Amino acid sequence: MKTYDFDEQIDRCGTGCVKYDQRQATFGTDDLLPMWVADMDFRTPDCVFDAIRRRMEHPILGYTSLPADYFRVAARWITERHGWTPREEWMGFLPGIVPGLSFAVQVFTEPGDEVVVQPPVYHPFLHSVERNGRTLVFNPLRIVDGRWEMDFDDLERKLTGHTRLLILCNPHNPGGRLWPRDTLVRLARLCAERGVTVVSDEIHADMALGGRRHIPFASVCDEARDHSITYMSPSKSFNMPGLITSYYIIPNPGLRNRLAAFLEKSELNGGNIFAYEATRAVYLHGREWLDQMLAYVQGNIDLVARFLAERVPAIRPMLPEASFLVFLDCRGLGMEGDDLQRFFIERVKVGMNDGRMFGPGGEGFLRLNVACPRSTVEEALRRMEAAIAER
Ligand SMILES: Cc1ncc(COP(=O)(O)O)c(C=O)c1O
Repeated sequence: MKTYDFDEQIDRCGTGCVKYDQRQATFGTDDLLPMWVADMDFRTPDCVFDAIRRRMEHPILGYTSLPADYFRVAARWITERHGWTPREEWMGFLPGIVPGLSFAVQVFTEPGDEVVVQPPVYHPFLHSVERNGRTLVFNPLRIVDGRWEMDFDDLERKLTGHTRLLILCNPHNPGGRLWPRDTLVRLARLCAERGVTVVSDEIHADMALGGRRHIPFASVCDEARDHSITYMSPSKSFNMPGLITSYYIIPNPGLRNRLAAFLEKSELNGGNIFAYEATRAVYLHGREWLDQMLAYVQGNIDLVARFLAERVPAIRPMLPEASFLVFLDCRGLGMEGDDLQRFFIERVKVGMNDGRMFGPGGEGFLRLNVACPRSTVEEALRRMEAAIAER
């Protein structure tokens, strides 16, 4: 068995890499450790390069259809990893999940309809609603015993005769929750009863931590299966989001046909040669890399938890159950809004996502990306400790 080296420091500067090359534009300075955009500073798995290299040996990169076994391979992966077997005919290619959110809003709602999101949540959820002229409705998450929970009393009130969609982040970004089965069932039943379709963004699904398992929303009950749209992708878990590859799973034929027709008429139902090859490759050969990567990330998360508890207790990490993002509760520092963000940029010199971008409930939080060598995490923690001590 090959052991992968996640300690390796790789210079990403000058590659058009958003995380590094957009520091000046985003933070107003290049002089900070970038721990924001949700991709990894780890080498993308070898099997991706092997597959792409093999394809490049052929001298023509012409129009190319999806490999015949594409969805069979993806469905097998989902069965083995998540214990749910989607049928191949439920699945279709999607050119990115963020675009897919916007498509769902356009297809399943009319201008003025209400779409519910559960902040603090991945900011494109908000944009997909607002930029399409629909009404954004917040059903904020609540912190209960140190974890984010859904507020069903609030949701019951927020689902009105005008609500058409709820966009679910499962697992949740930035909260790191793997939603438990009873929460998903309750959500499914309530939404089905009110005629609301759930769009379940499951891009972080493959990255459950600590022996936990992700539960696909559509798998939990009949109501969930029949009133949902699921989006999945290997792009985030295998560190290849630059390839742009994802897919939908929609068991309900009525919903599926509507989205498929939209994609077809917009000529958005196909990807690129390398994305096809890479997706097949990781689902067939990527498991070992993924599991080693997750064990390494768990080590980084444990380090953050230990270090902050011992040396910077004013910052309290919300420990993720999935993925590599740690939402830091910085409210104990006594700084707010721009002051907090400025302090971390100018004094700590670590670039993180400002919690406010994720909507209500994100104030006072920063999102730290720990998918990087441990030495980078150590450096970020040292900088936090030093800057806070001398404040
Ligand atoms: C919840 C969630 N959805 C979607 C994406 C991005 O999806 P894509 O790159 O396929 O557009 C991210 C990236 O951070 C994410 O966290």
